[in-house]
Formats: sequence, C-alpha cells, structure tokens
Amino acid sequence: MVIPRRLAPVTAMPGLFIPLVERCLVPPGIVSEAPRLSERSLASLPLRRVQQHERPTPGRLSDMESRGILNCFQLDGRVAVVTGASSGLGVAFARAFAEAGADVALGARRADRLQATSSLVEEAGRKAIAVATDVSRPEDCQNLVQEAVAAFGRVDILVNNAGVGTAVPATRETPEQFRKVIDVNLSGCYWMAQACARAMQPGSSIINISSVLGLTTAGLPQAAYAASKAGLIGLTRDLAQQWTGRKGIRVNALAPGFFHSEMTDQFPEGYLEGQMNRVVVGRPGRPEELAAAAVFLAGDGAGYITGQTLAVDGGLTIA
Ligand SMILES: NC(=O)c1ccc[n+]([C@@H]2O[C@H](COP(=O)([O-])OP(=O)(O)OC[C@H]3O[C@@H](n4cnc5c(N)ncnc54)[C@H](OP(=O)(O)O)[C@@H]3O)[C@@H](O)[C@H]2O)c1
Repeated sequence: MVIPRRLAPVTAMPGLFIPLVERCLVPPGIVSEAPRLSERSLASLPLRRVQQHERPTPGRLSDMESRGILNCFQLDGRVAVVTGASSGLGVAFARAFAEAGADVALGARRADRLQATSSLVEEAGRKAIAVATDVSRPEDCQNLVQEAVAAFGRVDILVNNAGVGTAVPATRETPEQFRKVIDVNLSGCYWMAQACARAMQPGSSIINISSVLGLTTAGLPQAAYAASKAGLIGLTRDLAQQWTGRKGIRVNALAPGFFHSEMTDQFPEGYLEGQMNRVVVGRPGRPEELAAAAVFLAGDGAGYITGQTLAVDGGLTIA
C-alpha cells in the first residue's frame, strides 16, 4: 500500500480527502494488518474525519429546538446495555435508564442478582434481559450484545460499569492480582465497547465508568485500580476520536467520587468518613446523582460532548 508523501490540503477539500485517507489506512478486506506508514507520513495524516455538518438555516428550527430541550434528555425507544448491573451503581444506572425510557440489557456474573435488577426495570415500565457475563472474556461481551440485539433489535447506549476494586501495597501485589483488575476494569470495557460499536448506529453513546482514582490519589495503595481507571480515560479519548466522526458514536467517561456500594464496603473501617473532608459537598454521592449524569451523556442533549471525562465527585478533585 502506498501512502502519498504529500497530501492534498485537507481544509480545502475535507469531504474528498478524508475517505481517501481512510481507504489508505484500512484497505478493504484487510482489517487486521497494520498499514506500513512512516512516522513522518503518519504525523501528516489528519486521522479525524471532518464531517459535512448542516449549517443552521435562519428561521428553521433545529431538531433539538423542535423537540424541546427537556425531550433531549428522554431515551424513549433506545436500548441500553449496562454491565455490572447485579449490585451497586449498576443497579442505579439500569433503573435510571429505564425511567428515562430505554429498554435495558443487563450483564454481570451473578445471574440471580441480575433478575432483581430486571424487576426494577420492569417496574419502571420498560423491558429487560439478564445475561450472565464475565466482561474479562471477549466472547461473553459479544454474546451480551448479540442477546441485546436479538431481544430489542438494536443497541444505542453502553454503560461500561463492571469493575473490581483492590488495595494492595505495590511491593506485595502479585502479577495475577494486578492482571485481574486490568482484565476487568480496562480490557473488559474495551471488549464491550468493540462489541457494541459493531452493532451501534450513528447517535449512539458509550459511557465508561472510570473513577477519581484515574485523576488523583485517595490514600490507599491502589496501583492496579488507579492504572485501570486512568487507562479507561485514555481509552475513552481514543475511541471518541476513532468513532465519533466515522460512526457517529460518542464516547465519554464518568469519574465518580465516593458512593456507598459493595465496593466501598470493603474499605478499611473509618476510611470513607476520613475522606469526607476532601469532598466539597461534604458527603458521599447518591447513586441517582451519578445515574443522572449518565442519562445526560447518553441522550441527544449531550450530542456535542465526546471524549470527555466528567468528575461526579462532590468537588473532591478540585479541593
Ligand atoms: N462506589 C464508588 O464509590 C465508586 C467510585 C468510583 C468508581 N466506581 C466504579 O463504579 C463501578 C461500579 O462499582 P460499584 O461501586 O457499584 O461496586 P459493586 O457494587 O462492587 O459493583 C461492581 C459490579 O461489577 C460487576 N463485576 C465485577 N467483575 C465483573 C466481571 N468480571 N464481569 C462482569 N461484571 C463484573 C459485579 O457483578 P458480579 O460480581 O455479579 O459479576 C458488580 O455488579 C466500578 O467500575 C467501580 O470501579 C465506584
């Protein structure tokens, strides 16, 4: 494959030029073979597609204006996949998405606990399916998405929420302990995002649940957890630049502060209370306060937001 050394001025002909670049980067039929590009030619490639957006016509209402601003937060007719929906924040996400109008596909390892979350979705008037899923297994992720498409015909939203927490002093942490956290918290999110992006239509949204531990420290020895959550912020940025222009899929992350859950139950006695002097709001978050941010990022009201990480932390990261 030959990449032209000198490329046509992009700003002059975005619509003509970008498809050519994409053809060069990913030749038809060759998806796994990395293209041979010199560093120089790579640096000169505009990897982001410049879309031909419709300019506002004076006097004509945009889609958002005609629907009314509050309706842009509604998710009626959409389908959300929520991982880690067997406990804690995942239950709050599932319920919130159902209340906003979406049917929900629920994934986690404890299938019995998923049934309880299904009932909450149904109480909110929406449909649910529960699929036993270990997100560290790419085939499970693919299966969850296939089941969602089989049941509901589409997938519009992914909440990558499944996660495990650990606190192990770095000199004592075994390779297995470290790998397990990365496998679930980081790789698992990637397998889920890949599986969803293959099925998603333009207008879809992926929300990765990172953590303030991806942005700062919090006093416990959490190298694996912090690395996985910081990695997820990088993954979010990269998938946004790969998929928002080309596929119309927005990718954002939430970085929660402290929210009571099975994960925080494992903290040492008094740890959570000791952290509250760092939280400007002065209390742990309520799950629905995080879920509300996820509903916002999922809907058309956040249509111009991609690649971002929103801290929902009561001000912890600015204190
Ligand atoms: N609570 C907080 O203060 C806080 C703060 C920052 C970030 N977060 C993040 O929020 C997310 C939810 O945590 P949480 O606080 O709600 O804790 P949680 O109650 O322990 O929930 C974790 C969920 O992840 C699922 N999970 C774990 N390993 C999995 C795997 N291999 N495959 C599929 N699902 C798996 C668990 O389900 P199964 O065991 O049934 O598989 C469970 O539903 C996590 O990503 C966490 O890192 C939480």
